[in-house]
Amino acid sequence: MNHSIIPAPVSCRPTGGAPFVLTPATRVRHDAASAGVAAWFARWLGLEVAAAGTGADIVLAVEPALAGELGREGYRLTCGAGGVTIRGATAAGVFYGVQSMRQLLPTDVEQSGLRTNNGRLEAPAAEILDKPRFGWRGALLDVSRHFASVAEVKRFIELLALHKLNVFHWHLVDDHGWRIEIKKYPRLTEVGAWRAGTVIHFREPALDGIPHGGFYTQEEIRDVVAYAAERFITVMPEIEVPGHSSAALAAYPEFGNTDAPGYAPRVQEKWAIFPETYAPKAATLQFLDDVFTEVLALFPSKFIHVGGDEAMKEQWETSPTGQAFMRANGLKDGHELQSWFIRRTENFLAARGRRLIGWDEIQEGGLAPGAAMMAWRDVKWAIEAARLGHDVVLAPTSHTYLDYTEGSAEEEGGAIGAQTTLEKVYSFEPIPAELDPAHHGRVLGAQGQLWRERMPSMARTEYRAFPRLSALAEVVWSPRERRDYADFRSRLPWLLARLSRLDVNYRRPRD
Ligand code: ACM
Repeated sequence: MNHSIIPAPVSCRPTGGAPFVLTPATRVRHDAASAGVAAWFARWLGLEVAAAGTGADIVLAVEPALAGELGREGYRLTCGAGGVTIRGATAAGVFYGVQSMRQLLPTDVEQSGLRTNNGRLEAPAAEILDKPRFGWRGALLDVSRHFASVAEVKRFIELLALHKLNVFHWHLVDDHGWRIEIKKYPRLTEVGAWRAGTVIHFREPALDGIPHGGFYTQEEIRDVVAYAAERFITVMPEIEVPGHSSAALAAYPEFGNTDAPGYAPRVQEKWAIFPETYAPKAATLQFLDDVFTEVLALFPSKFIHVGGDEAMKEQWETSPTGQAFMRANGLKDGHELQSWFIRRTENFLAARGRRLIGWDEIQEGGLAPGAAMMAWRDVKWAIEAARLGHDVVLAPTSHTYLDYTEGSAEEEGGAIGAQTTLEKVYSFEPIPAELDPAHHGRVLGAQGQLWRERMPSMARTEYRAFPRLSALAEVVWSPRERRDYADFRSRLPWLLARLSRLDVNYRRPRD
């Protein structure tokens, strides 16, 4: 029995009294606003929910007046022999309090529920006051390079919830597979969701010749969005414009730069950046509008990610159609045409009450006024955008690319990116030191990236994700002054035990 919680709460005071004892007779009581949280908790533990009653129970309450002290996502938790009370200004806050309560219970509960310790579960007496440092606490999962089933995606989302993360960035579209059903364009998934084979790790350019693919129906997407919403996680889709579009153009070649020399789109099998981009012509723009119209109907997320990274300019610049379009619109080169695409998409989204976010390349030709930016190549892009009044999310390769190997190349059977240790991830500071305090509010938060070129399975993905994502959860949730790597490491064994009970294939810290 201990007080180890990750991410570390703002304050957690052991109160020294007798522990709370949870038994099969315990009830979860709640008000109307926390009914959904109570249902989650009761289902997780196998307890019954009661709207009212007395006794040493678990009481959940939403009290809007707490917003001044706790913000939208904070909570107060009191745990002791007399019962447990979890209060927040919103249901989200209560949910995070429940996640902390979960971590006060024995780790075996994750596997054996109420059967643990013959149905007598102790939680240490404590008073916790907590609220997140950042409102954007995310993780990107790439399902284009390797598909993940709905069940696997839900399991991943459940692990995000355990860590109090609240943005699931779903990278649904890339050169290696289009994974979202679009009713108006069935070939996107009939053709674009399948590739003939995949390059063999560290034996490039040899291909395995094994067909790979998969996609989510719109019904499945709605199911995932609802599952995430129950855990206070926003699902933000990423639909890449104008590059990373090989799979879409393999399905509908007519929307590409058909008159560029060598134009031959295909669903790609090798890991690289490819020359295909959407062409600046009416039919393609209509296609993009149609795709985004269906995407917006599926995802309530305020932010819609439009990629915007690594768009190659050659096909535009060598295609007569592209050249004519640039001349007619006063665009001097492919970089300006890239910005034109992003601005057009920004207008489309803004007119429908949404906000565009994209990778830092979208800034090169000037950001549209309401657009937000995700800095990946360098934090300098975040600094520049924040100074110009844009909201930014930090996702730099230096600390948050969890596809980069954690151990040495020898240990990992080959290196990907720069070695990114657990301690390095933990040391990440989302507010760049050079950023003037007047602009700190522009930093919405940060997120970890799981690009899955070399993670064919979710077991492999979990090995890369945990516990580095656990470290990043503390970076984005806990107060800066609470962050202490040695202290994190002293709390980590309990979280790892919990992950073991959940059969998570985490990487055992070596140092
Ligand atoms: C990226 O890694 N291309 C955003």
